[in-house]
Amino acid sequence: MKSKTIIIRNPGPAENMKWENLNIDSPSQGFVTVKHSYVGLNYIDTYHRSGLYPLPLPATIGMEGAGEVIDTGEETKLLKKGDKVVYALGPPGSYSDIRNIPESKCIKLPDYVDDKTAAALMLKGMTVEYLAERTFPLNNKHTVLFHAIAGGVGQIATQWIKNKGAKIIGTAGNREKAEIAKNNGCDEVILYNDTNFVDAVMDITNGEGVNVVYDGVGKATALKSLDCLAPLGMLVIFGNSSGNAPPIDPSLLASKGSLFLTRPTLMTYNSKASDMHKSAKRVFEMLKSNSISANIGNEYLLSDIVNVHKALENRETKGSIVLKNDH
Ligand SMILES: NC(=O)c1ccc[n+]([C@@H]2O[C@H](COP(=O)([O-])OP(=O)(O)OC[C@H]3O[C@@H](n4cnc5c(N)ncnc54)[C@H](OP(=O)(O)O)[C@@H]3O)[C@@H](O)[C@H]2O)c1
Repeated sequence: MKSKTIIIRNPGPAENMKWENLNIDSPSQGFVTVKHSYVGLNYIDTYHRSGLYPLPLPATIGMEGAGEVIDTGEETKLLKKGDKVVYALGPPGSYSDIRNIPESKCIKLPDYVDDKTAAALMLKGMTVEYLAERTFPLNNKHTVLFHAIAGGVGQIATQWIKNKGAKIIGTAGNREKAEIAKNNGCDEVILYNDTNFVDAVMDITNGEGVNVVYDGVGKATALKSLDCLAPLGMLVIFGNSSGNAPPIDPSLLASKGSLFLTRPTLMTYNSKASDMHKSAKRVFEMLKSNSISANIGNEYLLSDIVNVHKALENRETKGSIVLKNDH
């Protein structure tokens, strides 16, 4: 079988993603062949493309996809032909029409979740699950600062955090995004390009600071995020949309109030298949009870991937982005 697949031969700008026609062999033992209907776009894809997170070359990219199992290798125990599945932990290669993937990486879709919702939600939803329930288990006594609140992870996080009863302060790049965040349930939104967000957080919290900052922006915000924390608070740097956060001296954590710092990844939290399935189950439960939605900001065609990467990196997108497989 042939599959149109994005190949990176030289890491760099969006234009370095090139479509090639790959031969897809029959799936080997424990693998299945998935035909994508939708592919999820995640910021990590841009790190793989640019080389910020280096991959062995030539590389395929894209961590998340949903579709139908069209072939199975020997000794596949969990999946059969015709099953609808989603995966969100790679291995990279979802920017493709068809691919082989270990069945252990796939999650069978419940009948109430369609492919498009799954591709938009799974990686971001599982991220929010571990951030809000395992990294810093939230409750109704907590106040949270969450950066880039109108983004893909940000919008799902808002709904999840409100469901836990915590108060949420978000930052957003412009007024339109702030409005989206408010309508999505965010208690307070700070326009961090125009305002000193540390002062704004201290005003909102009457000088007390927040219990936890979830910072997926990194370089531009990480050090200032420390100044938003109450004593014993936790800074969770979970991404680098503006570049890698600078090194942080442990003595800074002492002088700013015995703070905690962590740099978690979904890959660590869901590295065991049992944890991944538990995490996915929580996301599906939250979806079924209408506690969260996928918040799809835009649907694009997979063939338009170069322009979509540019839009994400230019801060033009809102909510989750899905790519319809048009190959
Ligand atoms: N560690 C993990 O397990 C994990 C898992 C999933 C995602 N993540 C991280 O979570 C973050 C959000 O991911 P996402 O896919 O949902 O993306 P996203 O939030 O939809 O897009 C990134 C947003 O970051 C903000 N931003 C601030 N400075 C930026 C800059 N210089 N360049 C580009 N964007 C900038 C923009 O929002 P404003 O215009 O509002 O500032 C932009 O829309 C990313 O950092 C990603 O790597 C981490």
